[in-house]
Amino acid sequence: MTIPVIAIDGPSASGKGTVAQRVADKLGFHYLDSGALYRIVAYAGKQYNIAWNQGETLAEMAAKLEIRFEDGQIYLNGNIITEEVRSEEISRGASEVAVHPAVRTALLALQHSFRQAPGLVADGRDMATVVFPDAIAKVYLTASAEVRAERRYKQLKEKEIHANLQDILQDLRNRDTRDQQRATAPLQKTDDAMLLVTDQLSIDQAVEKVLQHYRQASQHLTPQA
Ligand code: CDP
Ligand code: CDP
Repeated sequence: MTIPVIAIDGPSASGKGTVAQRVADKLGFHYLDSGALYRIVAYAGKQYNIAWNQGETLAEMAAKLEIRFEDGQIYLNGNIITEEVRSEEISRGASEVAVHPAVRTALLALQHSFRQAPGLVADGRDMATVVFPDAIAKVYLTASAEVRAERRYKQLKEKEIHANLQDILQDLRNRDTRDQQRATAPLQKTDDAMLLVTDQLSIDQAVEKVLQHYRQASQHLTPQA
């Protein structure tokens, strides 16, 4: 039997991570934060002095990195880098390294390795289009840029990180454009994905809608006697 995957794609701060993690917890599924992998590549590139426009060299480096997700922490070569990879600089770097086809290919096998029983919830930009095109349920999560910027601003404030709302909005728009317009694996909604606009939706409501979509999709697979 194929292991079910729920693919959740969407732009920055649309709620993918929060919603995907909760859906995974409710179903007892594994969880893949694919964006973290691009963040790690950007972070490691900076550490090893490899510029973010050097696709082939970054890809060679990526293939050698020892990456581990454990107890909510991100480990790179044995060191915890959970907070470091969330900075605005590394967010921008992640979207810059993500344009290179070689980098994306280098991260593919690692992403596939998360598909383990009883199932996987994966979030990112190309989960439904490239990494898990056979996902049983696909969701495109989005919200207006203003709402997303407010959310990111609040998130940073809670962590006592100084930020400016206008800068966040601008960064977010730049990243949206780069993610949607790149030639390889651009962010886009597939025809078979459920569109979930979260401007007016609470996290709990969004989680419930994803679960409903998954249950419906699973029923189609198991014809009733
Ligand atoms: O993973 P992604 O960048 O898409 O977003 P996130 O980090 O899961 O969510 C960004 C912030 O928005 C978090 O603080 C969430 O709690 C919040 N959020 C919200 O307020 N309402 C939603 N419906 C979804 C997320
Ligand atoms: O949390 P947020 O949505 O802001 O970002 P993320 O999901 O951690 O992803 C960071 C960057 O990695 C994105 O801006 C994309 O450029 C890239 N990414 C990608 O290209 N493909 C994915 N499957 C996930 C992320």
